[in-house]
Amino acid sequence: DLSTTIGGIPLSSCIYNASGPRTGSSAAMSKIAASSSGGVLAKSATVANQTGNDQPRTWHDENGSASLNSEGLPNNGIEYYIDPKTIAETMGDQSKPYMVSISGKCLNDNLLMLGQISDAINQNPSINIAAVELNLACPNIVGKPTIGYDFEQMEDVMKQVTSLPCFKGSKPLFRLGVKMPPYFDRPHFEQAAAILNKYKSVITYVASINTIGNALAVDYYAEMPVIRAKGGFAGLSGPAVKYTALANVKQMRELLDESIDVVGVGGVTSGKDAFEMILCGARAVQVGTCHWVEGPSCFDRMCNELTDIMKEKGYTSIDDFRGKLKEW
Ligand code: DHB
Repeated sequence: DLSTTIGGIPLSSCIYNASGPRTGSSAAMSKIAASSSGGVLAKSATVANQTGNDQPRTWHDENGSASLNSEGLPNNGIEYYIDPKTIAETMGDQSKPYMVSISGKCLNDNLLMLGQISDAINQNPSINIAAVELNLACPNIVGKPTIGYDFEQMEDVMKQVTSLPCFKGSKPLFRLGVKMPPYFDRPHFEQAAAILNKYKSVITYVASINTIGNALAVDYYAEMPVIRAKGGFAGLSGPAVKYTALANVKQMRELLDESIDVVGVGGVTSGKDAFEMILCGARAVQVGTCHWVEGPSCFDRMCNELTDIMKEKGYTSIDDFRGKLKEW
């Protein structure tokens, strides 16, 4: 039994897609919905649709150990991702949760999009958006800092977002999750978690990690960066980031209030990787780069692998081993 809950949202499988690859359109997302993925999470949206950075803006290394992207948030705009037509095309007859991601270019854009989402649901309660994942971690916008690395700005964003009327009622219209960048130093984990804990009455889950920002790969033959935008600096993902992701999940689980769930993301390519994330405290696991490379069949494969591991180890539910990494 791979079922879990995040922020109280039931997922039939603890493995689902990360925002980013293959999540821009209903055509792409419908394939996730039809797979074993526990839910469907849309591409990070901005207020208006945009085409993103110039190509080439993505790269995969030759042995499958790392990828780079500097897409610059190509997306169809928030209205598209909350349109009942998009959601219907995406979900078909699947009843799993549909979630959206927002990555405004400034605080006001995030407030505006959260307002638009609440207005849409208030006007049409049949719109089913289980969660909104607020992205504090996009590294690819020229001239913009990663919000999660600027604790003053992060505090301001969380304060204003959580004061919105849509989070005031007794029954929220949707759950709020927060997507975090990776941290590398204990004091940074502590500061980030302290800010998130202040807003625990509204934040229901934290997804760690986004890409390791501003990595650089060089084309040896051309003697140029492999990525065009931002001087070649781009977000690093794939197996190369797994150990950083595990550490972030473990640290966040230790430091966050127990009412905030942790969703593990970063370099997961197998059921074994998902198992390790859950041992470190994740209630669910998102898959980005592997889904990008392998396509939506990766969810079926990884769910089968995790089921086999659990059988072999004698576990019947993920609660049997979640957060139970042993100490030396
Ligand atoms: C993009 C990359 C990210 O890591 C992110 O969180 C949002 C957008 C992008 O380049 O499109």
